[in-house]
Parts: sequence; C-alpha cells; structure tokens
Amino acid sequence: MTDTPDVALRREIVETCRKMNASGLNQGTAGNISVRNEAGFLVTPSSLPYDMMQPEDIVQMYFDGTYEGARRPSSEWRFHRDILAAREDINSVFHCHSVYATSLAVHHKTIPSFHYMTGIFGGTTIRCARYATYGTQELSDAALEALEGRTACLLGQHGQIALGKTLAQALYNAIEVETLSRLYVQALVLGEPPVLPDDEMERVIRQMKNMSYGRAPDLDGVNDTARKRA
Ligand code: 13P
Repeated sequence: MTDTPDVALRREIVETCRKMNASGLNQGTAGNISVRNEAGFLVTPSSLPYDMMQPEDIVQMYFDGTYEGARRPSSEWRFHRDILAAREDINSVFHCHSVYATSLAVHHKTIPSFHYMTGIFGGTTIRCARYATYGTQELSDAALEALEGRTACLLGQHGQIALGKTLAQALYNAIEVETLSRLYVQALVLGEPPVLPDDEMERVIRQMKNMSYGRAPDLDGVNDTARKRA
C-alpha cells in the first residue's frame, strides 16, 4: 500500500485495536473502532481477530451505508455512522466489551458522579443505553440518545462506547470508562456510594474544560491554575 494519509490512518486503527487487546480492555473479536476521513469513515471489519488485522482489511464506509473493500464492515457500522454524522465534535468512535463497564451495563446501571472523574465525559453521569439487538438501527438510536452531551455511554447488556476527537483520545476515554466502572463496582461492595452535588460537578466540569483536563494532546498551554514560565 502506498503511503497516503488514509494508509497512515488505517495503520493507526490496527495499532489502536492491538493496544485495546494488550491493555486488557477487550478480548477476542468483540469491539470495533472507526475514524472519520475525507470520503466518510474507516471502520474495522467484522469478526476478524485483531492480531491478524492488516491496514488493507479496514473498510471504507460512506454515510449512505455503502462500503468498499474486501471485508465486510463491523456489524455495528450503523452506530459508528450515526454518531459521526450527528457529532461534529467527534472523529473517532470506540466500542468494546470491557469487563467492569459491561458488568454495570448488564444491570442497566448509569454511572453517577460518585467520583469527580465522571465529569470528564461531559456531564454528571455516564448513561446506560436501553438494550437492543447488536447491529440494529434500534441499538444505534439508543446509543445516540445516551450519548447526548457526553463522550461515553454504557450499552445495556452489551458493553461501552467511548468517543474522541482522535483515535488516541477515544482509546483514552474507553480506558477511563473502564477504570471508573471498576472503581464503582468496587465501591458498591460497601453499599451505594454518595454522589457529588450538581453544583460541585458543574464547577468540576468547568475547570476540566478550562484545563483541557485529561486531554494532554489538545493542550496548548491553557491552564488557569499555573502559568508556564516565559
Ligand atoms: P463486529 O466484529 O461485527 O465488529 O462485532 C463485534 C461487536 O462487538 C458487536 O457489538
């Protein structure tokens, strides 16, 4: 393959898939990843083990639901398409069945602001979307609703979705959802933990936006608590 920008993006998708498995976030062929490109979006193929996946296996999709390539696109292409179409702030969609997030999702639990880091996803909760069969338009509609104003959600009896401006940010968010889910599951052992009040979460979210908190690749010296020396 020649070294066009899309080849670089395809390689980055394959690398991100391998990182997802190496981090323990995912097992087997579950999960799928997409990233916007000029023609539409690139998405992982369906049911292909990540250690076998090559850049040319990544599928070019268009917003009308058609695709090009030797492989079939992920069965979840609908929610990748619908999220990328609806969210101009997002360029990458990441889906996996990570163990702790999925443990909460099988109970249809929304993650509350039991810890201030819940705010990094844009609100006071990480919602859990209602269950719908994998690969369906109903699942895509449920996911879009749960993602309103957020960069992550759980999928009832299924897994999680994390969004990012870049592939790296979507992976970071997926790991963060899993970390928070793990904390929440562990905290629930001692009973339902208290939640931070809405006005405190408003302050946290405002401060996170000002500081690009957890968004180091986006930082350009913006930090209202410390100034870089001239
Ligand atoms: P695909 O292999 O078709 O992407 O499906 C995996 C999955 O996680 C479905 O939700």
